Amino acid sequence: MKIVDLDKARDLLLSGEVVAIPTETVYGLGGWINSEEGLQKIFSTKERPFFDPLIVHIDGIESAKKLTSDWTKIHDVLARACWPGPLTLIAKKHDSVSSLITSGLDSVGLRCPRHEKTLELLRSIPGGVAAPSANKFGKTSPTQSQHVYQEFGDAVAIIEGGASDIGIESTVAGVVNGRVEVFRPGFYTAQKLKNILKDAGMDVEVVYAQSPVAPGQLKHHYMPRIPLIITGPEFSWAHNQAAIETELQKTFKRPAIWLQPENPSLASRELYQKMREFDEQGFDIILTPYLPNHSGEEWLGIWNRLEKAKTLSLARK
Ligand code: TXA
Ligand code: MG
Repeated sequence: MKIVDLDKARDLLLSGEVVAIPTETVYGLGGWINSEEGLQKIFSTKERPFFDPLIVHIDGIESAKKLTSDWTKIHDVLARACWPGPLTLIAKKHDSVSSLITSGLDSVGLRCPRHEKTLELLRSIPGGVAAPSANKFGKTSPTQSQHVYQEFGDAVAIIEGGASDIGIESTVAGVVNGRVEVFRPGFYTAQKLKNILKDAGMDVEVVYAQSPVAPGQLKHHYMPRIPLIITGPEFSWAHNQAAIETELQKTFKRPAIWLQPENPSLASRELYQKMREFDEQGFDIILTPYLPNHSGEEWLGIWNRLEKAKTLSLARK
């Protein structure tokens, strides 16, 4: 593994290279926002299509303001309460922000990650660092340096930052016509954001975006290499084997079962980790049950990822 310290990482970024950065959600594949070369390398390394915009990582609110042209009171209150942390805020972009980052949109996604090393790195880099999750496009996001290495080998230098605490990507939210829309569910639920605004004396509606208007929110995403099946509450292999093998026209020999922990924070921390582990351990299919009591707002982020990562669902909802 090509592990680098913060000074080396900074030099690489400023010279147009990509570097994998640890965050509390997942590891990111960073490129300096003022380097056309670095930005291009993010897309080519990930094999990512240009229509999927990147999130810019910054060291705090002052840096965020410089990259936007309409930083509203709502943005400010949410950033003050949630940063550093797993919330990406969409705001109207400043002219200086490359359209490579925004896929030609007039808005930009900004996030201040809660990881000491990455924050220190960001403080040393003018502008900010664009970083999607450090995995090949459409695949499972990495929550450990080892996972990044599995994706890219020695082609990508990595800052070692331990296992990601949250385990799934940040909540993405923007301000649309005076209300907050959540484009990607995550740790910060709509209710939590609403409460934060309320505590600041603002009565603002917070809703989940109905259609996935956020670009890059494709139907299939986050997929492990072996099929992932969502079953009904009856999750045993014996109960589901016939239906699965008929549907997929294939036989399987080593099924793994992921029983989601009761606590949604633990479940999100385990999710990608388990998908990779089962694959490495030689299982050839993963089953995870749809449990009706795992369905509150706190579970939305987990189900959003599972629904996109699945090959088949046998659950009746
Ligand atoms: O937790 C995270 O957010 C991780 C870590 C590395 O920070 N990053 C991440 O990046 O998940 P990525 O590229 O996998 O997800 C970026 C997504 C886009 O697919 C899109 O849904 C949304 O963020 N996004 C970015 N810019 C946007 C914009 N201007 N308008 C709407 N959505 C945007
Ligand atoms: Mg991703």
